[in-house]
Amino acid sequence: MSDTELRVPMRSFVIVGQSASASPDFRLDDLPSTSGRLDVLLRCVRAALLVSHGLRRDVRVYLVLGGGEPASRVLRIDGASAKFVRPDERSLATLIQKTLATPINVASSAFQEVRPGVSLACGGMRRVIEAVAGATLFVLDEQGPDLRRAQVTSNDVAFFIGDHVGFAAETRAELGMLGALPISVGPLSLHSDDVVTLVNNELDRRREVSEI
Ligand SMILES: C[S@@+](CC[C@H](N)C(=O)[O-])C[C@H]1O[C@@H](n2cnc3c(N)ncnc32)[C@H](O)[C@@H]1O
Repeated sequence: MSDTELRVPMRSFVIVGQSASASPDFRLDDLPSTSGRLDVLLRCVRAALLVSHGLRRDVRVYLVLGGGEPASRVLRIDGASAKFVRPDERSLATLIQKTLATPINVASSAFQEVRPGVSLACGGMRRVIEAVAGATLFVLDEQGPDLRRAQVTSNDVAFFIGDHVGFAAETRAELGMLGALPISVGPLSLHSDDVVTLVNNELDRRREVSEI
């Protein structure tokens, strides 16, 4: 399926892992030290996609994997079709490891589905930006205006979040050039997965009010 066919209004989270492993060569029993902190991204997957006993069908997560060989790659999990996404970090790490170990066509820049709802593409930020074209872009930034006061009028939104060391200067600049709007979820610098939870919660509450 092409990206164009997949473009439906969506809540997307893009977690930019500067060192997170694009290769499956990491140890499940020592994820933080062997995977370039892929564990940070896995916690974001749980926060973005999973609710109690279910999956958010209108959410898509992109993990930009900038570490190891063959970086960069982008792994996408689509809540509409994903299966076997479990909340514990080890199961998620196993899913990601198996996905990364699956050969894909490296001559193609398209997302290639390697298991239900889980796709892989060669490339980095540029690849994601193409995939979310048309969505309103937000960059999560401690210094930005408060999300609680921000207008989010579209259902087609993409939130970019940094990893444990934040964004590289060039990523920040690229997002700025694209007109991504900075927003903050509070005055303290939080862990990436907590930021995802707060964004989901704020949008859930707004939807609930607008549906009354
Ligand atoms: C652990 S923080 C990164 C901290 C890193 N030391 C830095 O200076 O960017 C991970 C990411 O979460 C997001 N973040 C953390 N706290 C936030 C806040 N209060 N509001 C908005 N985004 C936040 C940012 O995208 C940040 O890059």
